[in-house]
Amino acid sequence: MKTVLITGRSSGYGLETARHFHAMGWNVIATMRNPREGIRPKSDRIRLLPLDVTSPESITAAIGAAGPIDVLVNNAGIGMLGALEATSMAKTREIFETNTFGVIAMTQAVIPHFRARRSGAIVNVTSSATLAPFPLVSVYTASKAAIEGFTGSLALELRHFNVHAKLVEPGYGPTTRFAQNTDVKFEDVIPQPYQSFANPIFAAFAERPAVFTTEADVADGVWRAANDTSDQLRFPAGPDAVALVN
Ligand SMILES: NC(=O)c1ccc[n+]([C@@H]2O[C@H](COP(=O)([O-])OP(=O)(O)OC[C@H]3O[C@@H](n4cnc5c(N)ncnc54)[C@H](OP(=O)(O)O)[C@@H]3O)[C@@H](O)[C@H]2O)c1
Repeated sequence: MKTVLITGRSSGYGLETARHFHAMGWNVIATMRNPREGIRPKSDRIRLLPLDVTSPESITAAIGAAGPIDVLVNNAGIGMLGALEATSMAKTREIFETNTFGVIAMTQAVIPHFRARRSGAIVNVTSSATLAPFPLVSVYTASKAAIEGFTGSLALELRHFNVHAKLVEPGYGPTTRFAQNTDVKFEDVIPQPYQSFANPIFAAFAERPAVFTTEADVADGVWRAANDTSDQLRFPAGPDAVALVN
């Protein structure tokens, strides 16, 4: 039986991805910063482990406790909206610590095992923001675009060992906790001169676009990417992401 380790499994796309792999008969190592009972189906095929992808000690402990895995899903991520001039470098570094360096560190931690076994897959969840530019998300887009380049190069270097690296690019998912999972205040990151430009954009998002991405779309994209043995690198997930590609 195969085993998947998913980061950021406490909510949203990660939670649904874990459910999907479990329903398909896999063992699931469900990792989250603060493991809590009550958000999982009771099953001897699901293990909860603490993992903060910004902490090297936490990564070492989680990978050690997990035992052999077949697929790593780097799903954990945080959003960042705001005009660049109002976004501090400290906040910028914080976003990169999770969305970029966390993914790279997790990937580094599993490669020796995958390489030795000559099998495994790494699935990195980025964003449709990398498929076409959106305003007021420059730092977030940069953090995810770095992982796009990283994964493309890595896929070529790991193919030699029969290890796959894939990208899943979800579209806008208004039903996850993503928009709430931030400590920045709107008025701090959208200064007054930007407001006439920004307000209609946020109003449109608040109304929920006609076409958007669901948790099930992303779970399906991760599933397809994890099981794909071709050279396909990118798996846009959700109808809005697919439309951007087309
Ligand atoms: N929703 C969207 O519109 C959208 C669009 C495109 C791409 N994405 C990407 O999809 C992924 C999942 O997002 P989502 O929409 O499902 O949002 P979400 O519900 O906020 O889930 C994000 C998860 O990441 C975890 N996380 C944050 N920082 C972490 C850290 N340092 N270490 C470990 N876990 C951490 C959170 O855990 P805690 O419970 O500990 O906070 C949470 O479980 C993210 O990579 C996001 O960038 C989302």
